[in-house]
Amino acid sequence: MSEPGATVTPYEDGPLLIRGDFAILTPDGERIEPGRGTVALCRCGKSASKPFCDGSHKLVGFRAPTRER
Ligand code: FES
Repeated sequence: MSEPGATVTPYEDGPLLIRGDFAILTPDGERIEPGRGTVALCRCGKSASKPFCDGSHKLVGFRAPTRER
């Protein structure tokens, strides 16, 4: 199996980490510059800097498994 261009890792009770060669686009196709090679995307909905994680998931007690079992 070949390596993907990017990987997405869901962290337990936290964000989605994206590593590799990726682009983040708005629904209109505008590029959102991540400013770094590895980014954490919010999946709790409470970040003040969406789509990026700002650590708010810890303050609100966000709970989510890495994956459903
Ligand atoms: S997942 Fe970190 S602020 Fe939402």
